[in-house]
Formats: sequence, structure tokens, C-alpha cells
Amino acid sequence: MMTLKFSAQKADKRKAVCGYCVLLLCVFPAMATAAKPQSPEQEVAACIPCHGANGISMHSSWPNLAGQDKQYLAMQLKAYRDGTRKSAMMYPMAFDLTDEDIDEIANYFHQLSCNE
Ligand code: HEC
Repeated sequence: MMTLKFSAQKADKRKAVCGYCVLLLCVFPAMATAAKPQSPEQEVAACIPCHGANGISMHSSWPNLAGQDKQYLAMQLKAYRDGTRKSAMMYPMAFDLTDEDIDEIANYFHQLSCNE
């Protein structure tokens, strides 16, 4: 009797663990792709040829973005998007960004160290 009860409990535990794995495998990737199709790395891929993978620009006439204040970066991107800050290079990069994209991009460059 004791052994039967014990193995039944074990089986229940295993079921619970399996259920958790299924939840992790199915629900989380679905949530991730539904909420945000692009990672910050994908979003900034277009910026790297000019502003550098580490946020340090490739050319002396292009600004460095690494370590810059988040709010400043977001404000500049919104200004390019709205046309209040004019740049033939930056307008095509910014015109179709959403506020959420801009926050993510600003955060990404803000977190890079400017001492590299
Ligand atoms: C073709 C080169 C090029 C590409 C690609 C590019 N930029 Fe720029 N970026 C520039 C130049 C040049 C400026 C300075 C423009 C000006 O005079 O306002 C600039 C300015 C900026 C500024 C303002 C910086 C400051 O100090 O005021 C931000 C923020 C910025 N870029 C972000 C981005 C982001 C984010 C992307 C990718 C989505 C991107 N850039 C792609 C060339 C580029």
C-alpha cells in the first residue's frame, strides 16, 4: 500500500513538471514573437554601418551614440521622424519608427559604453 501511494505521488509530480515544460516551450516563445517581432539587435542593424556596432561612429562627421542619454536619443529620433530636426541621412532611418522602437533603440545605445 505504502509503495503504491508513493509511486502515485511521484507520477503526479512528474506530470506537474511536464506541464511546466510544455508551458515554457509553447507559451513563452509565442508571447515573445507576438509582443515584439524584432530584438533590439535587429532594430539597430540598420544604424551600425554609420554609428558602429559599439555606438562609436565610423566617420568623423557622424555622431557617436554609445553611452548617450536615453531621453536625448529618443528626443532626437522623434525630431528626425517628425521632420523638426532635418537630416537627409537620418529622416529615412527614423520616419517609420514607433515610439516603442525608439525607446528600445535609445536604451540600446545608452547602455553601450563610450570608453571602448
Ligand atoms: C547613412 C548613415 C547613417 C545611418 C544608417 C544612421 N545614421 Fe543616425 N546619424 C547620421 C548622421 C550623419 C547624423 C547627424 C545628422 C544631423 O546633422 O542631424 C546622425 C544623427 C543621429 C542621431 C542624433 C545624435 C546626436 O548627437 O544628436 C541619432 C540619435 C541617430 N543618428 C540614431 C540613428 C539610429 C537609431 C539609426 C538606425 C535606425 C541611425 N542613426 C542610422 C548618419 C546615419
